[in-house]
Amino acid sequence: MLSHPDDSTTLIHIPQPKRYLLLPIEEEQPEVLLRLRDDSLKMPYMDVRLAVTRVDYYVPLELPAGRAAEVEVVGLSKEALCWQRLSLSDSLPEQPADSYRAPDHFAPCYGWMNDPNGLIYHEGKYHLYYQYNPYGAKWGNMHWGHATTTDFLHWQEHQPALRRDTLGHIFSGSAICDTLGVAGFGKGALLAFYTAHQFVGEKQWQAQCLAYSTDGGQSYTKYQGNPILTAADGVQDFRDPKVFWYTPRRSWYMIVSADKEMRFYRSADLKHWDYVSAFGEGYGARPNQFECPDFFELRDPHTGRSRWVMIVNINPGGAFGGSATEYFVGDFDGERFVPDSTPEVTRWLDFGKDHYAFVTFSGLRDRVLGLPWVSNWQYADVTPFRTTRGAMGFPRELFLFTSGGRSYVGARPARELLERRGQAQDLKRADATRDSLLLSDQLAPLGDRYELVLRLAPQPGVQRCGLMLSNAKGDRLPVYLDLERGRVVMDRTQSGLVDFGLKAKSHERESGDWRKDEALNYHNDFALATWAPLSLVSGPNYELRLFLDRSIAELFVADGRIAMTNLVFPRAPYSTLQLFSEGGETKILEATLYPRK
Ligand code: FRU
Repeated sequence: MLSHPDDSTTLIHIPQPKRYLLLPIEEEQPEVLLRLRDDSLKMPYMDVRLAVTRVDYYVPLELPAGRAAEVEVVGLSKEALCWQRLSLSDSLPEQPADSYRAPDHFAPCYGWMNDPNGLIYHEGKYHLYYQYNPYGAKWGNMHWGHATTTDFLHWQEHQPALRRDTLGHIFSGSAICDTLGVAGFGKGALLAFYTAHQFVGEKQWQAQCLAYSTDGGQSYTKYQGNPILTAADGVQDFRDPKVFWYTPRRSWYMIVSADKEMRFYRSADLKHWDYVSAFGEGYGARPNQFECPDFFELRDPHTGRSRWVMIVNINPGGAFGGSATEYFVGDFDGERFVPDSTPEVTRWLDFGKDHYAFVTFSGLRDRVLGLPWVSNWQYADVTPFRTTRGAMGFPRELFLFTSGGRSYVGARPARELLERRGQAQDLKRADATRDSLLLSDQLAPLGDRYELVLRLAPQPGVQRCGLMLSNAKGDRLPVYLDLERGRVVMDRTQSGLVDFGLKAKSHERESGDWRKDEALNYHNDFALATWAPLSLVSGPNYELRLFLDRSIAELFVADGRIAMTNLVFPRAPYSTLQLFSEGGETKILEATLYPRK
């Protein structure tokens, strides 16, 4: 039952609710305000793109059980199609799955996802919280979604752990286990640190907040005394707190991004934080905006010495445009971080275009393991998905290595991925040294999910060698060594759909999104080749490991000395695999395919 108390407000009266009210969404429409009018829920307005002329998909609004509900919508015309298409349901909306959804990677079952948040290993489970919009597949209404796994291939999705509230959006952050209970929420409570974000007039207000869980990370209660940390100098970009334990001082530290630097704070009780120092202004790629910091130790395998690594996710400023992850290796004495490198040096954790907001798990002792969000802010909002946008990359274990006397951080696929995979198929043939070798004749169809391992030994004279994935529609994804230019390359220029972003550009400008400064040149930002310097690996043999999961291509060279993550949208699965060598012979030492089912 609908009523219109005034020109811009509509009330939806639901005397006998089911579990969900299914909201029809049309992505091209501007956001209108929607909330449940229920005193006990205190739900603030959510921004929802309700359908006006057509329905793209439905999102569920959970209704309180056992009582009548009233939903208020502000800003939508009485003529909008939405009013005819509302329905009640006890189950989630049934709608066709996105054809580009990558089944082996985590993505929520509907809605929008960006950064991984609050990564923590606790009581045998890996918890992934994430930037989540449950009310549409575009950015907005930031919640912390929640999923758990034990093997990184099978995920269980749970209720959102933190919901947008009157302090604002729940932006990115971290989680720790307060084993000693110093924060006062009991021994072993899990604490989540996040940023509350809202606009006050024209200005952005961002402050750090705390929530605690006494049920092992399933549900969180926001701390009454929030926010726990605001920026003393009023800097507007102040977000994404990562909390870590620093043994020499027996203290908790927090690292927070503050515009173009990272700031360290220290605390004894995890609620009161004192400023320690800052690092980063003028360092690394520019122009930039620092976001999503991480800070941890890695052992140098040569010296046995422990080094500190600072992860700095930047947007814009990425090597191939838009967002990307850089890092600094150095020393930390509890007061200052001093990097090994000079300001103009930039080191990338991943050389693809779709690797962002990478952060690591707390609660792990034997390895440093993290997850990236597989997208790029240049076009994240318009990738060819319908009901779910955004996926996490495969987990990567970080390690230090030395090249040319300098320290680098490598990222290799987590061991779980190599333990659980299909039956190996040996693709190697005795005569595998011709200029171009077509392997698909002897293969069962490649499918759209597999891991491919190649060990190549290019002989003198070889200019380029590698693999080419292709399909009958003419889409091609070459991944190869360019020995002339000293690069490893993944070229998605003709990989399938590449110009989906054009339409979004004008729309994004109109919508007055908080990212409007970045009125980005979406067109062709997607159609490009990404590359990494081969100087990071030592020949003469090269190991390439490529995971392809429908729309996510993750390449690891030399066991992770180089990582490269890219989205691809082939119009049909890449069913043909060719190996090629130009200018001379390449010996194939290994060519193995592990299909995934
Ligand atoms: C990074 C980021 C964070 C912020 C979040 C908002 O992708 O911009 O800095 O907390 O996304 O969703």
